Formats: sequence, C-alpha cells, structure tokens
Amino acid sequence: MSQRHLLSRIWSPRGKGTPPLESWPLPLYDVWDDVASFAAEMRTSDFMAEVMRRRTAHGSHGLMAALDCATLYALTRWHRPSVIVETGGFVGLSATFILKALADANMVNARLYSIESDENCEHWALVPDDLRHSLVPLRGRVEDIVRTEKLPAKIDMFLHDSGHTYWHMRWEFREFWRRLSNGGLLVSHDVHMNAAFAKFVTERYAHDKKTGLLDRSRSEHEEWGRWGYIGFTIKKGDPANA
Ligand SMILES: C[S@@+](CC[C@H](N)C(=O)[O-])C[C@H]1O[C@@H](n2cnc3c(N)ncnc32)[C@H](O)[C@@H]1O
Repeated sequence: MSQRHLLSRIWSPRGKGTPPLESWPLPLYDVWDDVASFAAEMRTSDFMAEVMRRRTAHGSHGLMAALDCATLYALTRWHRPSVIVETGGFVGLSATFILKALADANMVNARLYSIESDENCEHWALVPDDLRHSLVPLRGRVEDIVRTEKLPAKIDMFLHDSGHTYWHMRWEFREFWRRLSNGGLLVSHDVHMNAAFAKFVTERYAHDKKTGLLDRSRSEHEEWGRWGYIGFTIKKGDPANA
C-alpha cells in the first residue's frame, strides 16, 4: 500500500456517532515495517559502504553515523515527499541519503532545498554527481532565507540539522511545521541534545483530562518516534487535501 493511500485511509472522515476518543492510538505497523525494512536494506548496501568510506576520508566530526543515515533514508523512501527542505546542508551527508531515497523511489521531479550558512565549508561535497539534479543548494542563514522567495510556501518534508540550541530548534520546528502539507513529515537530527523535539511533540498532543486517552481529533500529529538520534513526527491531515 502506498504511503498516500495509507494516510488517506487513516484520515478518512469519521462517521456520525464515532466517539471522540479512541482507546488506543491507531497502530501504524505497516509504516514501522516499511521503514525498518528500507533501513535494513540501506545498512547492508554497497552505497552505504561507499558513502561511509567517503565520510571517514572527509572527517566525520559533526556528521550523522550510519544508523541515522539509514533511518533518514528509510523515512524519506517511505514518505515519498516531492518538496523537501533541510537546514545545515554542510558537506551533504544527510542530503546524500535523502536524494538516494528519492532516486530509489523514482521521484524524478522531487526537489531538496538544502540550506547552509557556513561560507567556508566544502558545500555538499559528499553528494554523488548522479544525485545532484534534485538538489537546490541555498547558501545563507535559515533565519534570512525564510524571509525570501527562495523556499516554496508548502513543503512535504523538513529535516533540521543546523544549530542545535533549544531555541533555534524550537523556532525551526514551528516555522517549518506551518509550511508542512497535511500528512507531511518533520524530521530532526540530534533530538537528544535538548528537550526541543520532545516538547514540540508533547505540545501537539491532546488528551482527555479524566482518562488520559488520546483525543485524536484535537491532536496535531498522527505519529511520532525516535530511532538513534533521529526524531520524526507526521502532521495530521489527509494528504489529498493538502
Ligand atoms: C551538523 S552540521 C550538518 C551536517 C549535514 N547535515 C551533513 O549531513 O553533512 C550543522 C551545520 O549547520 C550549519 N548551520 C548552523 N546554524 C545555521 C543556520 N542558522 N542557518 C543555516 N545553517 C546553519 C552549520 O554551519 C553546520 O555546517
């Protein structure tokens, strides 16, 4: 089942008389299975071995390890986003795995807008030539670039991997959550560094005060999770009505 079909089924309008509270979050086992299997496939691939070799040769300080790269690849491949923004493009390790997922999912028209503020780094040096056609490199601070017309108004996926202060992460999550289409995917690296991601997710939950059960109709996200140092949350809403 495609991601869009799955999400449409989950978010089809509830019938008259449906109780407002559900006793348990709807299990998205298909999603978890798909993501786990894409990640396992990537972990053992020649592509991963080659990119990790280049990562080591470049110097791995500040870069994702193989586990997080595989998770990022798997989430992107499962979600099949058309318009993606990432902050902290740097040498392009995260971009490489997003672009590889787009290529493997046959998303030929998809675009990754990658923002990097450091003028002196080796911009997107790790991105293989055959994946570059989907990359839109943007040099500058994300705080400045959001005020220009360089970014699309609506996006399907966002990856945070820039400055990891609590306030900056919180600001980016809020800024790009507004731009995410229904069913959109927000991903963050280094969610362990502070409480920004955990708080962002918590603030978007709604629970019944007496029972503590999830109130799906008032919650803003459909699912969230953390694997390794990657956190992700899926915005609620039927992608067909994005
Ligand atoms: C951890 S590195 C990103 C690694 C990158 N995702 C990769 O996989 O190659 C963080 C990067 O975020 C950039 N950065 C920090 N604050 C930023 C901001 N406000 N706007 C844009 N880039 C920023 C830094 O210059 C740095 O290169």
